[in-house]
Amino acid sequence: MPPARLDWRELSPDRFLERYWQREPWLWRQALPGFQSPITPHDLAELACQDEVDARLVVHEPDGEPSWTVHHGPFNQADFDDMPAEGWTLLVQAVDAWLPAVADLVTAFDFLPTWRLDDIMVSHAVSAGGVGPHIDQYDVFLLQAAGKRRWRYGSRSGSSLAFRADLDLRILETFEPTHEAILEPGDILYLPPGVAHEGVAVDDACLTFSIGFRAPGVADLASRFADAVAEFAEYQGDTAPRYADPGMTRPADPTLIGDEAVAAMTTLLQRQLDTPALLRQAIGELVTEPRVPPTMPDKQIEPATISARIGAGDTLERVLGSRWAHLALGTDALLCVDGVCRQTDADLAAALCVSETIEQTRLSRWQDEPELWGLLAELVSQGSLAWHGED
Ligand code: SIN
Ligand code: CO
Repeated sequence: MPPARLDWRELSPDRFLERYWQREPWLWRQALPGFQSPITPHDLAELACQDEVDARLVVHEPDGEPSWTVHHGPFNQADFDDMPAEGWTLLVQAVDAWLPAVADLVTAFDFLPTWRLDDIMVSHAVSAGGVGPHIDQYDVFLLQAAGKRRWRYGSRSGSSLAFRADLDLRILETFEPTHEAILEPGDILYLPPGVAHEGVAVDDACLTFSIGFRAPGVADLASRFADAVAEFAEYQGDTAPRYADPGMTRPADPTLIGDEAVAAMTTLLQRQLDTPALLRQAIGELVTEPRVPPTMPDKQIEPATISARIGAGDTLERVLGSRWAHLALGTDALLCVDGVCRQTDADLAAALCVSETIEQTRLSRWQDEPELWGLLAELVSQGSLAWHGED
C-alpha cells in the first residue's frame, strides 16, 4: 500500500499549527481520503494475546449508574468469548512498535517533530463500547480506521477535573460536551491536551487509531537531569564540583542554613543546568525512550564486521518502534537512540536520523573514520539497528 498522506487542501500544516495545535479541537473530515484500515479487529485481538503487549479490555455497563470495568492483558481467546454482545472495547498501546502496517502511518505526521510522537494506540469496540468521558494530558489525533464512532467533546477548559472515585479509569464526574460528531473511516478528530471527550462505538466494526504525542513532565525531566549530573560527577571523581564557603564569617545562629549557603548551592546546580551536554543528554534520553524496549542480539557485533558488510552492499535498518533524534552540541551533536545519547559529528547524526535505513551511499563521507563503525556496532548491539532481511 502507498504511504498514507493527509489531505491538506482545507488547511495547511502551518495554519493547523498556528490555529489548532495545543489550542483547539479540530474535526478533520476525510483527512485520509479512502482510508482502509491496515489491520482487522482479529489482528488486534491476536496482538493483545502476546505477553509483552500492553492491552486492556474495558467493559461498559450502561444500566443504572454507568460503570466501566478494566481488565489488563495479555488475554486469550476465552476472554473474548466471555465478552457481552455490546459495550466492550479492546485497547492496545504502541501498536506501531509491533505491526509495520500501523507504523507506516507515522510518516503522515512528519509535519510535527518526530520526537514528539509517542505511540499509536488502536482500539476495537463493539456497539456502545467506549472508555467513558475523560481528559488526556497529551495531544492526540483520533483517526477513525473502520466502522463509526460518535465523539462528544468539550472546549478546552469547560469540564471540571473531578474523577469518579469508584472506578479504575479516570472517568470524569461531570461531563458537559459542547460538540458532537460521528466519525467515519478516514476522518480525524484532533484534540489538544485537557479537552474532555468521550467516544462511543456506533457499530461492531469500530477501530480507532489514537496517534498520541509525548510531552516530558517536569518530574521525569528533573530525574533524568539528576541522573546525568550524577553520572558525570562520578566520572569526574574527586574533581566534581562541591559546595565551598571560603571567607565565611562566624554565624550568629550555627543551626541556620543561611541564605549565602542556599545561594552557593543554587549556583552549583545552575552551573550544571548551564553545562550544555548534561541537560541535552537528559532531554535526548527522555524523549527517545522507546515504548517497547529493543531486543538485544545474542552476539556482540564487531565494528569491522559492520564495515565489511556495509561495504559488500548490506543494509542496516531501524527496528520497529526504535526512536531516533539529535541535538546540537557546539559544533558536534548528541545522537540519541532509544534512550541512549552519544556525542558524534553533527552531519552524521542528522544523516543517520533522517532515514530508516543505513547503506553505503549514506555513509561514504565518514567511511574512513573508525568511530563510525564503532557507533553503528553499538547501535546494533543495543538492538536499535538490525540487518535488512534478518530477524
Ligand atoms: C478509544 O480509542 O476508545 C479511546 C481513545 C481516547 O479517548 O483517547
Ligand atoms: Co482520550
